[in-house]
Amino acid sequence: MAQQSTSLGSVRWLQIQSASDLDLRSQLEELIPEQQECLKKLKTDYGKVQLGNITADMVIGGMRGIIGLLWETSLLDPDEGIRFRGLSIPECQKLLPAVNPGGQPLPEGLLWLLLTGKVPSKEQVDALSKELSSRSSIPDHVYKAIDALPLSAHPMTQFTTGVMALQVQSEFQKAYENGISKAKFWEPTYEDSLNLIAQVPVVASYIYRRTYKNGQVVAANKSLDYGANFSHMLGFDDPQMLELMRLYLTIHSDHEGGNVSAHTAHLVASALSDPYLSFGAALNGLAGPLHGLANQEVLLWIKSVVEECGENITTEHLKDYVWKTLKSGKVVPGFGHGVLRKTDPRYTCQREFALKHLPDDPLFKLVSKLYEVVPPILTELGKVKNPWPNVDAHSGVLLNHFGLKEARYYTVLFGVSRSMGICSQLIWDRALGLPLERPKSVTMEWLENHFKKVSA
Ligand SMILES: CC(C)(COP(=O)(O)OP(=O)(O)OC[C@H]1O[C@@H](n2cnc3c(N)ncnc32)[C@H](O)[C@@H]1OP(=O)(O)O)[C@@H](O)C(=O)NCCC(=O)NCCS
Repeated sequence: MAQQSTSLGSVRWLQIQSASDLDLRSQLEELIPEQQECLKKLKTDYGKVQLGNITADMVIGGMRGIIGLLWETSLLDPDEGIRFRGLSIPECQKLLPAVNPGGQPLPEGLLWLLLTGKVPSKEQVDALSKELSSRSSIPDHVYKAIDALPLSAHPMTQFTTGVMALQVQSEFQKAYENGISKAKFWEPTYEDSLNLIAQVPVVASYIYRRTYKNGQVVAANKSLDYGANFSHMLGFDDPQMLELMRLYLTIHSDHEGGNVSAHTAHLVASALSDPYLSFGAALNGLAGPLHGLANQEVLLWIKSVVEECGENITTEHLKDYVWKTLKSGKVVPGFGHGVLRKTDPRYTCQREFALKHLPDDPLFKLVSKLYEVVPPILTELGKVKNPWPNVDAHSGVLLNHFGLKEARYYTVLFGVSRSMGICSQLIWDRALGLPLERPKSVTMEWLENHFKKVSA
């Protein structure tokens, strides 16, 4: 297989040579032995080398800064933001295949990149689109499980329920029950993962139509790509909305391994729970307001600003509103981050999309005003490590502009996208034979005794 190196991180370009190059699974079959060797060598050569010191602050403070996970698909730099297999978001926008030249990347291309570390050709992406479409049928009991919930159930609760109902199909679980050897674990994990990634948009759109559109389901259009078909099933066919959905699904897919949803999936899967069980657990973490639910919170908060002060709120009034939020003991949603220390590039690319397609939208103008107003206030608070906007500060107003106005649904979209990052890594977890995750915990008494001993 012909490859050539580029200066872009670890990404290798791939040239199409044979029909099997279009098959993602056979690509992985070639890559896995190479990567297993690489990990073995790392362990042999550097296994005992230290990677840093752990302080009590880190233990008490949510493990910030502790390097404790292997996560191959992406890496987050505090200043520069996310890189998917070495590629930044602007590089992905430039290099990954799009429907129209210069358009937004196809999320299937990102999935290929996450899994293989290679930029796929348009033919490879089209083949993957078709494959995902062929894996997307949903057994009836899944709809029945969701229908058992009241319409008032939060869409994320409905989504997790749907994913758990899909779990009965798990190939990994069946294979494990039949005594599959460890060396082959990745194979049914791959099957489950691709099935799950293919199925979640169908489940998610069913939840949307059931909850907000009187249960009038829109059938899939199998000639469309993954993102466009998802938008179509939700009921939105505006070409700009299709582009937005492709961008949205691409940028929310992965954010290295330590965030709550990714880490949860990795932890649960380390017990050899199958991809459905692991992803379901991840969704429950994503549903928390400090993580994925922040996109819902942002739009609701912005709408409360408009309700109370109007769309043309002055800068001074907006400052007062931000202070009022902070003084009532709440966070300003959409700002701050556990790792990032600059404006999130996922925010920036959405802002660029808005500047191009909806520059006059009043809520977009308000988001722009918040970009000026909030960071200095959070800085003034003195304790916020990152006063800059994150991905969630922007996504809601874009969706709202194109008619997807139900904020409580937004985290489901995030979850659909996350399936790609999480499942790609789970395949590699099994391929590399990563072990059960089991960090050490200690009590406050243990810490006190330890520090007495070291300072004696
Ligand atoms: C994302 C987030 C949870 C990161 O938390 P973190 O790593 O603990 O952040 P910091 O170290 O900067 O937090 C230090 C303090 O600043 C506060 N802070 C951080 N971001 C804040 C925000 N946007 N508004 C108000 N206070 C904030 C924290 O609550 C913490 O206060 P405390 O010491 O009284 O508990 C936090 O920034 C936040 O709550 N943001 C709003 C929710 C959000 O947008 N989440 C989506 C993230 S992609």
